Amino acid sequence: MNVLAFESSCDETSAAVVSCDAEGKFTVRSNIIASQIETHRLYGGVVPEIASRAHAEVISSITYEALEAAGVSISDIDLVAVTSNPGLIGALLVGVNFAKGLAVANGIPLVAVDHIKGHTAAALLLDEPPKPPYLALTVSGGHTAIYHVTDYTDFTLIGTTRDDAIGEAFDKIGRLIGIPYPAGRGFDQLSREGFILATGDEQDFYKKYKSCAAYKDKEMTLPSPALSDGSLDFSFSGLKTAGVNLLHKYEQHGRAVPRELFAARYTFEAVEAVAKKISLALERYQGCDLVLAGGVAANSHLRARLSEVCRSAGVSLFMPPVELCGDNAAMIAAAGYYEFIKGNLSDSSLNASALDSITR
Ligand code: KG4
Ligand code: ZN
Repeated sequence: MNVLAFESSCDETSAAVVSCDAEGKFTVRSNIIASQIETHRLYGGVVPEIASRAHAEVISSITYEALEAAGVSISDIDLVAVTSNPGLIGALLVGVNFAKGLAVANGIPLVAVDHIKGHTAAALLLDEPPKPPYLALTVSGGHTAIYHVTDYTDFTLIGTTRDDAIGEAFDKIGRLIGIPYPAGRGFDQLSREGFILATGDEQDFYKKYKSCAAYKDKEMTLPSPALSDGSLDFSFSGLKTAGVNLLHKYEQHGRAVPRELFAARYTFEAVEAVAKKISLALERYQGCDLVLAGGVAANSHLRARLSEVCRSAGVSLFMPPVELCGDNAAMIAAAGYYEFIKGNLSDSSLNASALDSITR
């Protein structure tokens, strides 16, 4: 079956054609992404109204592009899938209304996809995909959450941030140290330079970091975002505020902040917090593998550290390739396929919602 999918929840408009064979194996035939990052960079973050307009401007043309690149026409499409929540409401509405119109006009079944389930489904596009039950960690600009996934469509929230998301914590502090929006990728690179500078080791810098002098530097102390209440929850606002205060202190004393060392320390606290909660979750949910998802899943330090956590817990880690970690419609197609199998069909009454729908 051929799935035509749409994603427009934030600042990327995407249309993809993904086929699924009788054995449930997916093939990505096209995955077109029109990014608005350059536009929003001017403002240092996503401007919702600009995002909605930009989605509306390109959605039609990228749909033609996705069909053409896949070598199919609309009559070859068996299912339309679209992200319906959570996200920016105006942005979501563009994708939902376009998908609805296309599905109804062409008599094609329609399914709504939760953006978080979509991110997790990026791992289902791997050559050897995970099979439920598993744990899923979604780390993005809006989420830092751990889910127990008992079936491809059944997710239970078992841990989450109580305030800011990890991606936001990177983006906001990144901006203050001169990394252009979205700062995640630049932060990743700058931290790498910091780890190498601190340890003098180009290979094992992360492992050696905790025993080096830079880590013991009291001036660079930052709090852990892992809550110490036995839960699987996080709080990234404390790390962010401490980061801002530290940068102010340097400024007030007229000293230049050691950007690389600061970025390394900040990344270390963020990654270690996630590693700590994931170790605990794997202990509590014995027999579950781990699926990594969301834009921050592209972070090289997080990928390496979680590989180590899963190795020592004796479970498999499923990580989508970096290009499928950010928002894209191919992952929505894979999640949409399972909604269809489950019989969760939508019709022309489908609406978008800004809210999360996966609960504890
Ligand atoms: O999933 P995504 O594309 O959009 C949301 O649903 O939020 O995630 C975007 C987030 C941004 O905060 C961006 O800075 C972050 O992913 N990001 C990274 C990296 N690449 C992207 N964060 C850390 N390290 C990276 N390499
Ligand atoms: Zn996303």
